[in-house]
Amino acid sequence: MTSAKITPDSLRAMKARGEKIAALTAYDYPMAKLLDESGVPLLLVGDSLGMVVLGYPNTTLVTMAEMEHHTRAAARAKPNALLGADLPFHAYDTPETALANAQGLVAAGAEYVKAEGGREVLPQVRAIVGAGIPFVGHLGMLPQHILEEGGKYRIKGRDDAGHAKLLDDAAALAEAGAFAVVLELVTPPVAKEITGRFPFATIGIGSGPDCDGQILVTHDLIGTFPWFTPKFVKPKFHAAEQIRVAVQAWRQEI
Ligand code: KIV
Repeated sequence: MTSAKITPDSLRAMKARGEKIAALTAYDYPMAKLLDESGVPLLLVGDSLGMVVLGYPNTTLVTMAEMEHHTRAAARAKPNALLGADLPFHAYDTPETALANAQGLVAAGAEYVKAEGGREVLPQVRAIVGAGIPFVGHLGMLPQHILEEGGKYRIKGRDDAGHAKLLDDAAALAEAGAFAVVLELVTPPVAKEITGRFPFATIGIGSGPDCDGQILVTHDLIGTFPWFTPKFVKPKFHAAEQIRVAVQAWRQEI
C-alpha cells in the first residue's frame, strides 16, 4: 500500500519527478485491496469489465448500473490508491448526462471519472471538471467505438491527419483540466510527444515506453482471462492454468 492517500496532485508530482505511474484495473473488493497492498497508485474500474467479467463481446453493452455496482465493490477496499471509474458508452452524450452520471459514479465511490474522446466531448469534460470532479481522458483507440472501427483495435497516430488529431484532442483535454489521459494504441513517437508537450500525466496502454505511466487490464497481466490476451501484454502469471490444476487436484481427492 502507498504510505499516503494518492490524489490527482500526487500523480502530477510523480510526472514532474519522472516517477513512472503504475495503473491497473480493479472491478471488485479483493482485487482493489490486493493491488492497493501491492503499491499500485492508480486504480480504474474500467468498462473493460464488460468483457473480462461480464462476458460481453465488447464494452458498448456496459450500463451505468453495472459500473456503479462494481465501483461500489472496489471502493469498499478503501484503497490509498486513487480509484476511478469509466463512464460507459452513451453515458456522456450531453454535458447534462455526463455530469449526472459522473456524480452517480462519485456517489458509488469513484474519486475520478474517465471518458473516451477529445475535442468532441469537450463540453462534457468541462461540465464534469467544472463540478469539481477529477477527470481522466482517453485518446487513441477508443474501445467504445470498436463497432465504427469494424470490430478491430487499430493503432492511432500513424499518418499526419491522425497525428494532428491526437495533438488537437490532447490540447482540448489539457485546456478542460484533465489531470491524466490514457493513450491507447498510440504510436510510440506520438505518445512521447504528447507526454512532453502537455501538463497531464499520460498513462499508456500499448503506446510504447515513454508515457508517464502504464495501465493494463489486470486480467491480462495475471492470466485470469486466457481466451484473449492483447499482443502488447506479457502476462506475469498464468492464473487460469493454476486454477485448472488446483481444481483437478481437488476433484481427484473427493
Ligand atoms: O476499460 C478499461 O479498462 C480501460 C483501460 C484499459 C485503460 O479503459
